[in-house]
Amino acid sequence: MGDMAESSRKALRSQEWWAQPNYESFTRRAWMRAEGFTAEVFQNRPVIGICNSWSELNNCNAHLRTVAEAVKRGVWAAGGFPLEFPTISLGEVFMRPTTMLYRNLMAMDVEESIRANPLDGVVLLCGCDKTTPAQLMGAASADIPAIMVPGGPMLSGQWKDRKLGSGTDGRKLFDLFRTGRLSEEEWCEIEGGISRSAGHCTVMGTASTMTSLAEAMGMTLTGCANVPAPDSRRLAMAEMSGRRIVDLVWEDVRPSRILTRDALENAITVDMAIGGSTNAVVHLLAIAGRLGIDLTLDDFDRISRRTPYIANVKPSGEYLMEDFFYAGGLPAVMREILPLLHGDALTVTGKTVRENVETAECHRREVIRTAGEPLYREGGTVILYGNLAPDGAVIKQTAASPELLQHTGAAYVFENYEQMRAQIDSEDLPVTRDTVLVMKNCGPKGAPGFPEWGHIPMPRALLKQNVNDMVRISDARMSGTSFGTVVLHVAPEAAVGGPLAIVRTGDPIELDAAGRGIELRLPDGEIERRLAEFQPAPPKYERGYGRLFLEHVTQANLGCDFDFLRARLPQAGAHHGGL
Ligand code: FES
Repeated sequence: MGDMAESSRKALRSQEWWAQPNYESFTRRAWMRAEGFTAEVFQNRPVIGICNSWSELNNCNAHLRTVAEAVKRGVWAAGGFPLEFPTISLGEVFMRPTTMLYRNLMAMDVEESIRANPLDGVVLLCGCDKTTPAQLMGAASADIPAIMVPGGPMLSGQWKDRKLGSGTDGRKLFDLFRTGRLSEEEWCEIEGGISRSAGHCTVMGTASTMTSLAEAMGMTLTGCANVPAPDSRRLAMAEMSGRRIVDLVWEDVRPSRILTRDALENAITVDMAIGGSTNAVVHLLAIAGRLGIDLTLDDFDRISRRTPYIANVKPSGEYLMEDFFYAGGLPAVMREILPLLHGDALTVTGKTVRENVETAECHRREVIRTAGEPLYREGGTVILYGNLAPDGAVIKQTAASPELLQHTGAAYVFENYEQMRAQIDSEDLPVTRDTVLVMKNCGPKGAPGFPEWGHIPMPRALLKQNVNDMVRISDARMSGTSFGTVVLHVAPEAAVGGPLAIVRTGDPIELDAAGRGIELRLPDGEIERRLAEFQPAPPKYERGYGRLFLEHVTQANLGCDFDFLRARLPQAGAHHGGL
């Protein structure tokens, strides 16, 4: 009580807007009251922005208006003043050419909306893949107290007696459909049953991964990330988060105190333990860049080597996010790997990671294994280097075929995505199960926008021979719901003259996941000779946001943020929290 009495005397940032003895303050109060509020809201109450990525163009986040109402209950109850505001939303399956083109735009929208308005704290409502990192990046840069409330995963899909997991099972079933093993009628039934509610994809794809990592970094209440979207406990969590953000404002706990290097290392460790999406690598690097933390791909590899993979969830495992939640969810995973985490890291609960999870229980050991009996002794994601990827590449080894993780084969090259699409179903594509498929010009600048095209479909000719996996390499990303022996994020990308640009059909390529290598086996000097002839293609955007993106996006190993957003520079005219 004494603390609160003292802290409540602090001048709030919002008072700069409401409480000045001038005409501008009068106007702001009067215009706010146009929404029907009483003058009480201006009396040193923390103004809590509810940053909502709700959109009917984003089914995963379509329930977030309801979640926002629950947050508001909590904010009012704790003595705050909630104001909901929209930003651009990024619906993964709808946006062209790819949501990743717009992640940085959303991050800028979040940051500038927070900075420009009379807010003391912010609740971030996210869900679909890029909405989570975009909000974390923006909130990290704005740096006023913030808490995240993800919308949660959708219900498990269901078709006949079979549970279906979003993209993971969708892709497997599509291979049956495109080779005539499922009828049109069955395919239509699957369409109606695979996504049965609002909420994000129900496998450990990018959305489940990034919301889980937000919790691992301490930006959500404990146990918040995995509650299914339609579960009543989602709204209870939202209400509690609304209460908590008011305290965070009084305590002046900002993202810069939560999102430390230790928190990012905790996120990487948890990412490895849950078999998280390869996209997490790019997003965590971008978040670190916003905070001025020198995180590199080497940190991922170092942590991957020591972290067991224990969450038996698709696409690497067998179960779905609903099962994962019922088994104990992320707190149970974090308790299991607590010795590998920085247990003293502070979280938005006001407690440390250790305090949050040390009593968490696991209710189903087949879903969440012990660290002593993991599904895989190392983490899901592995970083590769070699003359084909001097600045690194990634592969999700837990979603790959073990026998292909050490493999040498002749390349079959697609110069771009369009060429791949045109050829992949050709019955006479000259490939075998040993071929290494290579696709170029799908990176941040090449596509542009770094789309999820890296899961090159299996050639129809091979599917008919019951070959379901082969080594595939590109500078693209891959959906977190995908699987297979797929090397991604090759950097530098082909479009800027990375060695991937000079690979030709027939060149031998060696993948050595255990040795962390990806090599083009050519005679000495041949790579340099071919690179000397490299000519970049003309830019695909000449105006607008696309041009800004092309001029400023960084490569995959730096997180693909804009170069001018990475460092935190003092903002002209900025109002930083409280003062
Ligand atoms: Fe939104 Fe998968 S499409 S999370």
